[in-house]
Amino acid sequence: MPLGWRTLPQLLFVALASIIHTSCSAAAAETGVAFENSAIVRTVALGGSVVHVTTTIAIKSLADEQDIYTVSFPRRERDASSFLEVRVKNQKDPLQIREKPFYGNAKFTEVDVVLPEKLAVNATLNLVVETIQTHMTDPWPEFASQTDQQALRYTTDLYVISRYPTLVQRTKIKALVPRIISYTTPTNVDAFTTGNVVAKSGAVVTYGPFSSIPVSTNKDFLKTYQQPVTVRYYHEQPVLEVTSYKRAVEISHWGSNINTEDQVILKNAGPKLKGHFSRVDYQGQLYKGSQVPHVLHSLSLDLPPGIDNVYYYDQIGNVSTSKLNVAPAVAKGEPVVKTSLLNMKLRYPLMGGWNYTFTVGWDADLAGVAGYNSATGEYNVEIPIMTTIPGAVVNQHELKIVLPEGATDVEVVTPYPSLTLWLDKHTAYLDTIGRPAIMFEYKDLTPAHAKNIYVRYKLSSGDHFRKPVAVSAVFFGLFFFTFVVRRIDLTIPKKQKAT
Ligand SMILES: *[C@@H]1O[C@H](CO)[C@@H](O)[C@H](O)[C@H]1NC(C)=O
Ligand SMILES: *[C@@H]1O[C@H](CO)[C@@H](O)[C@H](O)[C@H]1NC(C)=O
Ligand SMILES: *[C@@H]1O[C@H](CO)[C@@H](O)[C@H](O)[C@H]1NC(C)=O
Repeated sequence: MPLGWRTLPQLLFVALASIIHTSCSAAAAETGVAFENSAIVRTVALGGSVVHVTTTIAIKSLADEQDIYTVSFPRRERDASSFLEVRVKNQKDPLQIREKPFYGNAKFTEVDVVLPEKLAVNATLNLVVETIQTHMTDPWPEFASQTDQQALRYTTDLYVISRYPTLVQRTKIKALVPRIISYTTPTNVDAFTTGNVVAKSGAVVTYGPFSSIPVSTNKDFLKTYQQPVTVRYYHEQPVLEVTSYKRAVEISHWGSNINTEDQVILKNAGPKLKGHFSRVDYQGQLYKGSQVPHVLHSLSLDLPPGIDNVYYYDQIGNVSTSKLNVAPAVAKGEPVVKTSLLNMKLRYPLMGGWNYTFTVGWDADLAGVAGYNSATGEYNVEIPIMTTIPGAVVNQHELKIVLPEGATDVEVVTPYPSLTLWLDKHTAYLDTIGRPAIMFEYKDLTPAHAKNIYVRYKLSSGDHFRKPVAVSAVFFGLFFFTFVVRRIDLTIPKKQKAT
């Protein structure tokens, strides 16, 4: 949900205001059944560390002037979903949502969805609720030898819960390959079905259809009928987690340059390697073409077009066997049709439970990502939050944006709220007053979070994107150190929570 252009203090204010808002709406009494779910279909697309859940709900209004529909989630699944979007089926823009407050020990949580228009009695609408869950699968068994296959398991609740009655619902759980090992057969379901409780077909396990399910967001239903179901499946790809991802972006008007450096700790979160790693066995497998698919050998990263001075090293040094194809630069505002591709060869095969730490960095022309508004005197720079590591969740993410010296009136717009946001000062060699830096922290980012942050600021010096004229000018600047007035508002305390 875009926050719109806001200054940092405004962001804090918005965060406060939304807390106040949520607690007020909690007080509003809610009575009567406002909707009926004509049909619910939940589709779980199993993966490694990331699982996509899409729930289509056909709703029917039972009262007049309905413009809020409430979606319910089991608490455990809401906590594990770092991404949530609700839209009207076949429409592009997500609807506005508001998280409702809940008690610490609540078994479920609710989210209000603002409908695009008021619904009259008997009016219908199809809603699509999309969540991305992270860390919800686990390797089972936990250990595997170098030649074993990789099996994962995923557990969810049998019924999609709702504060409204549901005429019919079903859940489809899909693996990537048709190699389901086992699945739970639910019990005590006679109240809702006389037919098939569960069926497997190829890569899909289907629970239901279940009919005439009453309001289920209450203790009675949850205790009597709700139950966990587990699907175990072979997963023929590495289960990747980025345990730590630190991106530092430095904007320099002097060289018209934007430098990006990523420090990444990658982990193979599949079954841990049983026993010792044998390079002989591994080479043998390579030779026979029988290597197991859940060991990571290389990574393909999509980097921006038109990049320069690309470097890539791990804890030992440069990895010279990697390949880089730089796509031509794209003018600002033009769509990127081709990205640069870095095919990184890992120094060693990444077995289950192993880590790989690497750093990738590059330069790019600032003019390609920055705009200047001469009417307001503001620069507007577009900065990607991260480079997607395919299929991987990013457990901890930190983004630091270092602005040019003397930048003032800093404003940011973020595609989704960060855990924390603060203004810092970055002091580098030859800097006179230090450069303002903005820090963002995130957790459990998924490929759907690979979006851009926009930073706006003013710069008093007339240098737009000029190359350095002479180094002596820097020393001249240094000389005037004491005369420079601090123009940056540093009133935001460090580490203050912004969202
Ligand atoms: C809503 O539909 C029901 C059943 O189809 C019908 O009996 C009722 O009159 C309808 N109400 C309105 C206000 O249209
Ligand atoms: C790594 O590569 C860079 C550029 O190619 C070079 O400047 C640097 O000296 C190399 N470092 C090592 C340790 O080989
Ligand atoms: C991998 O890194 C994590 C911390 O990021 C550490 O706790 C763990 O021991 C490391 N594992 C190995 C096998 O080095």
